Amino acid sequence: MDSELQIVEKPEWVSWDEIHEVLWKAHEKNREKGVIMSYPSLSGEEIKNKIGDNGKLFVAVDGNKVVGTLALIKKVGKQWYNKGEYGYLCFGAVLPECSGKGVYRSLYKLVEATAKQMDLSVLTRDTNENNARMLKITKQEGYYFVECKAWKDHFNIVRAKWLDKCPYHTWYIKTRFILSKMIIKLRYKMDPQKGKVKRFGI
Ligand SMILES: CC(C)(COP(=O)(O)OP(=O)(O)OC[C@H]1O[C@@H](n2cnc3c(N)ncnc32)[C@H](O)[C@@H]1OP(=O)(O)O)[C@@H](O)C(=O)NCCC(=O)NCCS
Repeated sequence: MDSELQIVEKPEWVSWDEIHEVLWKAHEKNREKGVIMSYPSLSGEEIKNKIGDNGKLFVAVDGNKVVGTLALIKKVGKQWYNKGEYGYLCFGAVLPECSGKGVYRSLYKLVEATAKQMDLSVLTRDTNENNARMLKITKQEGYYFVECKAWKDHFNIVRAKWLDKCPYHTWYIKTRFILSKMIIKLRYKMDPQKGKVKRFGI
């Protein structure tokens, strides 16, 4: 990692438009591979609104240039894996020219430490089911696959990490995930033209 690299909460002088640029560029390879996600196309203002008052955006800054981003948003959940207050991680991105140098890892370390300071006991995140790299990284970080969701044109995998002790047996988490994936894929398919469609019209 570059010795001048700083990992900090977004300073005022970094514009939300620059954050959009970083996200958009970081996802170029994903777009080429057809791994589509909704967040990279949000404008700077929309990103700011998504993060809102309960969120913090962390940036990796090299000199005066943002090279990576990762956000932590405090939310209240209703699912079995996120009941009550939890942390939601999103906007994870590193510029292609800085990739593979541990920038994301440094951002993640700070985000997880911040979540612990905020007394959040579970973190969740989701990504396109074909984003193999991100799925591999989060497995290495100790996340479990917990749910499959159908978005307007792709399926997402939700992952969760318990920061204290995981309250569930691994077999229970795996079973819940497999069932969720089976049900959602039985109910919906992704049509190349129309996106998400119900298989049986119900
Ligand atoms: C995914 C992404 C954030 C990783 O950022 P990064 O700074 O390159 O990651 P790091 O260098 O910190 O490496 C993290 C892990 O990625 C993996 N990795 C790094 N370089 C890699 C490469 N060239 N190919 C495959 N895996 C690689 C390694 O498992 C590494 O873990 P390690 O500590 O065991 O080496 C970045 O590639 C990116 O912006 N991708 C496009 C946007 C995206 O998909 N974001 C996620 C949306 S949910």
